[in-house]
Amino acid sequence: MIYLFSLHRGYTMEKSYLNRLIANLTLQSEQRNSNLQIRRLFAAAFKTLNKSKSNFLETIDKINKIEEKILTETSTWIEPEQIKNGGSFDTMDLRHWIELAKLSNVPYIEGDVILTLSEEEYEKLHKEIQIPDFITNSFNKRLNNIIPQPENISKNETESVDTTLLRDKLFTAMDNVPANYMVRSHLCGGNMLKSLAGIGTVDSPDKLFQVDETITVGAGHVTVGNRRMVDATDDRIMKTFVSGHKPEIHFLARPWMKPKRYGVCEDPHRHGSAFAGKGMWPHEWRVFIENNKIVGVSTYYPWIGEVTAENAFKALEAVNLAQKILDTMIESNCVTKHMDTELSRDSKHFDFMNDKFPENTISCTLDFMETEELGMALLEGGPAHTPIGGAHPCGFISGSFNNKLGCNINGVALKIPSDVILADIQTWGRSNSTEKCILTWDEAKTLAYQYEEEKENTYRMKL
Ligand SMILES: Nc1ncnc2c1ncn2[C@@H]1O[C@H](COP(=O)(O)OP(=O)(O)O)[C@@H](O)[C@H]1O
Ligand SMILES: [Mg+2]
Repeated sequence: MIYLFSLHRGYTMEKSYLNRLIANLTLQSEQRNSNLQIRRLFAAAFKTLNKSKSNFLETIDKINKIEEKILTETSTWIEPEQIKNGGSFDTMDLRHWIELAKLSNVPYIEGDVILTLSEEEYEKLHKEIQIPDFITNSFNKRLNNIIPQPENISKNETESVDTTLLRDKLFTAMDNVPANYMVRSHLCGGNMLKSLAGIGTVDSPDKLFQVDETITVGAGHVTVGNRRMVDATDDRIMKTFVSGHKPEIHFLARPWMKPKRYGVCEDPHRHGSAFAGKGMWPHEWRVFIENNKIVGVSTYYPWIGEVTAENAFKALEAVNLAQKILDTMIESNCVTKHMDTELSRDSKHFDFMNDKFPENTISCTLDFMETEELGMALLEGGPAHTPIGGAHPCGFISGSFNNKLGCNINGVALKIPSDVILADIQTWGRSNSTEKCILTWDEAKTLAYQYEEEKENTYRMKL
């Protein structure tokens, strides 16, 4: 990654330099994560193998049972074209949310599948984090001592995947995608986009940063020479994919939307560091649904939040659209599924999960963006905020927080006080500020009404 530093000639903190720096740190931490993952995996594997035979078999048995449960569960999940007739679907799968927005007449950012990879093809692309041979050999040797394996055990299925064809697929998928489109998986966006969107410096999806004259990294794609290819090796996407979904991965191309409004402020994540500076974030809204009911809405990047009539109005506009999608889901008997929640259902340690998110109900989050072209539009849907994971609670981190139950999502969160830091869970629910950042529904409605009056007056003045 030496290129990054050699490219920096100026002394002022330019945006392009900052982007490259963050991109570099993201890549480095991906590498570290991969290495860590391998180490952790082997530490666990050797520990298991050193156990007595019965313990070892017990552990393997548990792993198999979880694997079986995941397979049984995902095999009942529907595909997006079936959504009209209802059924259980993966709450992280963007394809379903797009279908639901269409059925509900809710504006949405379109997304077309440009590439589908089987689990084997996808695994092949992640060869770099696969287990080195000398370790698997010694693992197998020890395993053989405990349970003798048949000779010529079946070949790794990824060996049948042709790498040249696979590479070609990544390039061909991009050939008809217009410029100024971003690419993401059906489950989530890539690390690079997330890191750069998080510091508020993305204004085009084509050029997040330039590696050298021949390689440019975009949002979900990379330009090599004069041809673009899907970036299918993103670490964030890979980790999400392996955490309990159907065995295929889809990549979608989406037009990059111009946000209608931005919030500009000092980036709280860089505050006090040598990289301190301002960022610019689009106004986005997250609506929270628990057990078939909308329970809250929050500004998505809460550090840009302000308690204003316009923001209250926009938050409620997102809620109205979310309600239309929820109505469609209830009418057609849709059920949201999130694997972590499903796996927790049998454990008595997680009773509270069944109470708050009963089986076969709808619990999820819906994210909207204020766009210039479409107005308030659906960006994506995702899992609910649960105490064992799922969606980030955004502005609700400044409300009441309980280690066991997570953040209480209730009302309209328009900002976070400055002493609550998103990245530091210790500050969640512990603000000393007396400022009211989370409004009740009634307070938000009263405030939003002022915005409507303001708009009405401006309109009359123009007449
Ligand atoms: N098509 C798009 N147009 C404009 N901004 C986008 C678009 N897609 C993503 N973004 C920005 O990138 C952020 C992350 O992308 P998103 O698709 O929500 O994936 P994830 O949250 O899984 O990373 C969004 O919150 C938004 O700010
Ligand atoms: Mg998102």
